[in-house]
Amino acid sequence: MQRSEKMARTLTVLGLESSCDDTAAAVVRQTDNTLPDILSSIVYGQTELHSAYGGVVPELAARAHAEKLDHCVREALREANVELSDLDAVAVTAGPGLIGGVMSGVMCAKGISAASGVPLVGVNHLAGHALTPRLTDGTPFPYLMLLVSGGHCQFLIVRGHGAYTRLGGTIDDAPGEAFDKTARVLGLPQPGGPSVEAEAKTGDSERFRFPRPLLDRPGCDLSFSGLKTALLRLRDQLVNEQGGLTRADRADLCAGFQQAVADVLSEKTHRALQIYLAGEPDTPTVAVAGGVAANTKIRSALESLCDEMSVTFTAPPLSLCTDNAAMIAYAGLERFKAGEYDGLDLTPRPRWPLDQSAPAMLGSGKKGAKA
Ligand code: KG4
Ligand code: ZN
Repeated sequence: MQRSEKMARTLTVLGLESSCDDTAAAVVRQTDNTLPDILSSIVYGQTELHSAYGGVVPELAARAHAEKLDHCVREALREANVELSDLDAVAVTAGPGLIGGVMSGVMCAKGISAASGVPLVGVNHLAGHALTPRLTDGTPFPYLMLLVSGGHCQFLIVRGHGAYTRLGGTIDDAPGEAFDKTARVLGLPQPGGPSVEAEAKTGDSERFRFPRPLLDRPGCDLSFSGLKTALLRLRDQLVNEQGGLTRADRADLCAGFQQAVADVLSEKTHRALQIYLAGEPDTPTVAVAGGVAANTKIRSALESLCDEMSVTFTAPPLSLCTDNAAMIAYAGLERFKAGEYDGLDLTPRPRWPLDQSAPAMLGSGKKGAKA
């Protein structure tokens, strides 16, 4: 069969992800416009490697990616039962992210492309998250996306695989970063999101008063640094008064913090939806993606909001909320299907906003390039 005939019917794409602290490879296949199949999705996390340092150490991350990528790719191909010669393209995160890690992935993908002749497709990591609802549910364009992760928080209108309009975003920290900091301050393990969520289960979210930043300002920009400061102050106050924290104190602090994040995200999503629906009344869909979208409380707050507004809500399964390569393979597949691919001069980019026309956000990304 000619490659061109094969491309028109079924596309099989290998994806690579290494922009932060997960080394991942995956194979995704799509026949025409049917729901894509994730044939394999391998993720090697680096949590233990960085645990002693209180955050991701870029040099350690880059070296670990370089060591693990080959192995990860081999495993993804084996599990998918696919040879390099079966691939139509190799997609790789080309940014934004920690540059050493992004370079490791891009070099590996270039090596595969050069050796096998398979076309190379550079993918924006954020596009991987933003297109996930199409991978999991076949969500048609356009839709409103809330992208909430360890390094990003933004509202985007997704009109096409390369067409994004940013409606607003965080002016300081990302929510995932605030969850991670909360865990550190309370002595809970990293990544902070899942540990804070687990702790919050038995907590009383009303006991401590957390602020709801920026709700008094119009628009859908967000801020999370004040929540971190509030948490630190409450902890210090308890330690001064009692000499330490009880299990219940910790649970109540986590529950109060989590509720504040959920309230703020829900109210700002309401506002973003009003803007979105004014322009796109016929496609009332909200999708959420990124690591923080794994949080049950936040998911259900957004789901209730969408129910009230008669808007369709979609959220990926937990394993596709956090960083993975299936989303990169799929975003690459969309680009490739549209006739777009890159040469061996593909350049890794530490910064790469999805909406190039939106003004840079004050403070956005200042804590590093986690995406
Ligand atoms: O998208 P992601 O895997 O990676 C990057 O940000 O690059 O998101 C990771 C972030 C971390 O900050 C982690 O604490 C957060 O997502 N996270 C959560 C939960 N699971 C992961 N935050 C809140 N609740 C969760 N269940
Ligand atoms: Zn991410």
